[in-house]
Amino acid sequence: MDDLKSKYLGLIAAAADEAAIEDVRLGALGKKGEISLKMRELGGMSPEERQVAGPALNALKDEINSALAAKKAALADTALDERLRGEWLDVTLPARGRRTGTIHPISQVTEEVTAIFADMGFAVAEGPQIDSDWYNFDALNIPGHHPARAEMDTFYMHRAEGDNRPPHVLRTHTSPVQIRTMEKHGAPIRIIAPGRVYRADYDQTHTPMFHQVEGLAIDRDISMANLKWCLEEFVKAYFEVDHVDLRFRASHFPFTEPSAEVDIRCSWEGGTLKVGEGDDWLEILGSGMVHPKVLQNAGVDPNEWQGFAFGMGIDRIAMLKYGIPDLRAFFDSDLRWLRHYGFAALDVPTLHGGLSK
Ligand code: PHE
Repeated sequence: MDDLKSKYLGLIAAAADEAAIEDVRLGALGKKGEISLKMRELGGMSPEERQVAGPALNALKDEINSALAAKKAALADTALDERLRGEWLDVTLPARGRRTGTIHPISQVTEEVTAIFADMGFAVAEGPQIDSDWYNFDALNIPGHHPARAEMDTFYMHRAEGDNRPPHVLRTHTSPVQIRTMEKHGAPIRIIAPGRVYRADYDQTHTPMFHQVEGLAIDRDISMANLKWCLEEFVKAYFEVDHVDLRFRASHFPFTEPSAEVDIRCSWEGGTLKVGEGDDWLEILGSGMVHPKVLQNAGVDPNEWQGFAFGMGIDRIAMLKYGIPDLRAFFDSDLRWLRHYGFAALDVPTLHGGLSK
């Protein structure tokens, strides 16, 4: 009996599919199965013999039956797992029939900006979109009572009662990345930091989520003149023209001194936005020489290092380049708009291939 038991339990364990299990079942418990035949022998036994052999055979039969059922269930589980893996579906894929998507103008412009500044020796840095008020404000020389905090229409993250962590905000600009990268890499440094930023604001040229690219160049003798040259070179390369009118306006930011805002000549005539002509100016960036306190807060010695920073609106320069008069359309997810303004997936901007096609 023990031999039979170990033989069949072994065969069941080794069975690789349903057909193999069925073969084992027939071999043991089928009409001509080994155990069935033994059961039949019970009839020829003495009552005493039968009393011992009967229950033992029945117990063996039960044991083999439940081993068969367990093995069947295990095989079914494996089969289901495999099927689920094979039929896995990415439910975040677009559901529409059109197979190829397009590159959003904001992504395209971010690539263009990156290509141009990379050519001038700027690396790309990143920071979190949810940041502490230290990185977004204090480290940038914007203390708690400073009006710039109110002006920025900040989105504050909800804090549960008793949560003692520092307040966090949806970053209102990409400037916190200045602090984070200087902390990490020290000086000299030359980076741009493109990304999403958030402010509670909504009209033709403002949306609550928009995009900036921060620029930061710190070395021993960097000046406003270097800033001006970099920005002019950038604008010429980006708009693919030899001349663009830029207006540097004296301004104020807590984290730069002196500070300048830069506007670009444009026209809104006939509902289309055109760059380089007309009597209007569109502000595209804030800039200046990094304030010594900001360097200090990021662990860089202001007696040794100095440099410029700027924060440019990616959406603004995208509107200008592609003649898109309303910023809000960028984020409406209107398929007709995306098809009209979108870029082919392989249209990667490079300086040799040209930025636009
Ligand atoms: N962070 C500023 C803004 O969002 C722009 C800026 C960046 C100004 C760097 C000066 C230097 O308005």
